[in-house]
Amino acid sequence: MNICVIGCGYVGLTTGTVLSHFGHDVTCVDIDSQKVDALNNGVCIIHEDGLESMLQKQLQKGTLEFSTDIHKHLQRNAVILVAVGTPASATGKTDLTYIDQVIENITLSTQDDEKKTIIIKSTVPPGTNEYIQTRLIESGKRKDRFTVISNPEFLREGTALYDLLNPDKVVVGGRNPLELEFIRKMYAYLPSEYFFTSPVTAELIKYASNAFLATKISFINELQRICEAYKGDISVVAEAIGCDPRIGPHFLKAGLGYGGYCLPKDIQSLSHAATVKGVVPSLLYSVERVNNSQVDMYIDFLEKEAGDLNHRKITVWGLAFKSNTDDTRDSPSYRLIKRLNEKGAILTAYDPAAVNKSKIVRTSKDQYESIKDADILIIATDWMDFIEADWTKVKAEMNGSIIMDARNCLNPSDVRSAGLNYVAPGIG
Ligand code: UGA
Repeated sequence: MNICVIGCGYVGLTTGTVLSHFGHDVTCVDIDSQKVDALNNGVCIIHEDGLESMLQKQLQKGTLEFSTDIHKHLQRNAVILVAVGTPASATGKTDLTYIDQVIENITLSTQDDEKKTIIIKSTVPPGTNEYIQTRLIESGKRKDRFTVISNPEFLREGTALYDLLNPDKVVVGGRNPLELEFIRKMYAYLPSEYFFTSPVTAELIKYASNAFLATKISFINELQRICEAYKGDISVVAEAIGCDPRIGPHFLKAGLGYGGYCLPKDIQSLSHAATVKGVVPSLLYSVERVNNSQVDMYIDFLEKEAGDLNHRKITVWGLAFKSNTDDTRDSPSYRLIKRLNEKGAILTAYDPAAVNKSKIVRTSKDQYESIKDADILIIATDWMDFIEADWTKVKAEMNGSIIMDARNCLNPSDVRSAGLNYVAPGIG
């Protein structure tokens, strides 16, 4: 197949590279010329395990290229995969500006006698695929010119390549079973569960998936507060309930809350879509409320453990919204840094991959240099470098001894045996 991927973000870049690896001829277009130049030179612009080497291999083979010339590639390719951003607006309503631009570009670049298959990968509110189809049909004389297929993406940042090559499901929202066959072929008949459903159900599966994950996190974070009040241990509670296959062990790690580009905006967008139809999403509102107050809970806890934070030297390990990514969008770590700054703390941060974009925190290039003379160290992202830190070295560098594990990822006895004071809410 000749495929044009619109948008070189996490989803577009990884999907485009993998589709070329599957044997298709792929051009990924983006408006950012610096990004496009870097990618054409084999430089992967995101921190994603294994992606750079696959990208370089496909560039060498000549089956993958990057371009800013959207019109040329929309004209040339019969298959168009849409992976543009769908950010949240202030009301929680999804901003579909980039989707509208894509529709505009497709109608401008195609002739009435050309047939195009348009695959929507971007996460969009229920009804959007229908809206895209209608707008495209209205733009020309022939009704059968465009086939719009919803194919939501479930990859996680940090394991994007693995997830794309080993999907637990592929969801295809369409009108004609031939569309399912088309998508199976596009994914080189990857073994997986395939769900062929209506476009709106496909859109809702995507939101339901992220909403359920967020619900699990807020559930365990609320339980953490109850554990703290009764001096119970949230880690053991999570481990024990996770043994029940009806509950499962994943997404039960209490911590600073969920962040990133997807979960926060998708929960808001689903809530908004519900209210538009008169449905009150009480549970989703609670999920958000717990998440939005999690950083304050940690600040209150730290003040109880360490006293006034004004002028205290605090080092934060981790800026990315989770480990194995350099993405800091909506990172709980920055929410924490902001609150610590308001409390008058003197801040230093360190992250193995993420680049600091905030002026309120100084960053160090070295993990151990970052804690020199620190009174308090906070673990804000569960990077392996932190889980396996040399705690004796940490003790030698620091002035104080408080280690607050805000991701419940450390082994408390490793930390304590180095003479440090391990603290975390809800660990008994
Ligand atoms: C999420 C979904 O997991 C993917 O399936 C989906 O495709 C993607 O959104 C998307 O919609 O594009 P991602 O944003 O990469 O993927 O991040 P997650 O791995 O879901 O983590 C989200 C947040 O939850 C992180 O801040 C993480 O630290 C936090 N988290 C995760 C916890 O606080 N506790 C846990 O037990 C697990």
